Amino acid sequence: MPEKDSREEKNFFPEQPQRNKVFSVKGCHNTDWGLKNRLARIFRPRTGKSLMLAIDHGYFQGPTTGLERVDITILPLLKWADSLMLTRGILRSIIPPEFSGGIVLRASGGPSILKELSNEHLALDIEEAIRLNAAAVAVQVFIGGEYETQTVNNLTRLIDATARYGIATLAVTAVGRELTRDARYLRLACRICAELGATLVKTYYCADDFETVTASCPVPIVIAGGKKIPELDALTMAYQALQAGAAGVDMGRNIFQAANPSAMIAAVRLVVHQGYKPKEAYEFYLQQAEKSRKKTE
Ligand code: R5P
Repeated sequence: MPEKDSREEKNFFPEQPQRNKVFSVKGCHNTDWGLKNRLARIFRPRTGKSLMLAIDHGYFQGPTTGLERVDITILPLLKWADSLMLTRGILRSIIPPEFSGGIVLRASGGPSILKELSNEHLALDIEEAIRLNAAAVAVQVFIGGEYETQTVNNLTRLIDATARYGIATLAVTAVGRELTRDARYLRLACRICAELGATLVKTYYCADDFETVTASCPVPIVIAGGKKIPELDALTMAYQALQAGAAGVDMGRNIFQAANPSAMIAAVRLVVHQGYKPKEAYEFYLQQAEKSRKKTE
């Protein structure tokens, strides 16, 4: 028999209705608790936005510039990242298990940069994603590409698997060289991924009409950084994407290939979570970079 409840007086607060807080991640209010909890490791609950640090490039291009030694160059950046997009190999071998942000595991692959890149297959079992405590898994989708159907099939198979366990699926809209990254194309690619069940979508930013891409996509969009560009331009791109409705950035090279990666990720964080304007964030970047230069003198 359980012990008798010793307190006679209880307080049921009958005058206070139970609070039913609306879950802030776009299009995810109808999902179960486990998925919401995982999404809260990706999108910071206080702002509803995300700074995802992408370091998965090695899955097709080996030791990418800036990622030659993840233990030396990336671990110091983790404290600014809400989540980390990476392969299981790097996660297991290098990332400390104390990292409490969301893990977004690369789940597709196959061809290297020496081959036709779009010919990807699924490269991760759902059991492995669970074992590694992934908040989300990521799959490349090549809409309009030679392997469109195959990569869409990768996405839908992964969505079926993740749906069983409340893990999020990030669809990455990869744009082949032959396709134009304009709003018309991005609307098509993002909407298809969302219609097929992706929990969130990663795509490229385009300067014209990006708000139509985010508006027509019923789930959150995070933007890829793309090739390294000057720091001010990367901060401007992040700012404009957020203004146009993006839920965050999934940025890699423009952070880890910056002249000062720590200063850059801290500056991107100010744009994502505090709405810093590009010039303000760039000023901050320069100050931080100068401080660390003096420290190492
Ligand atoms: C590339 O296919 C990977 O998925 C990267 O995570 C993605 O391109 C984002 O990184 P970056 O900001 O360097 O473009």
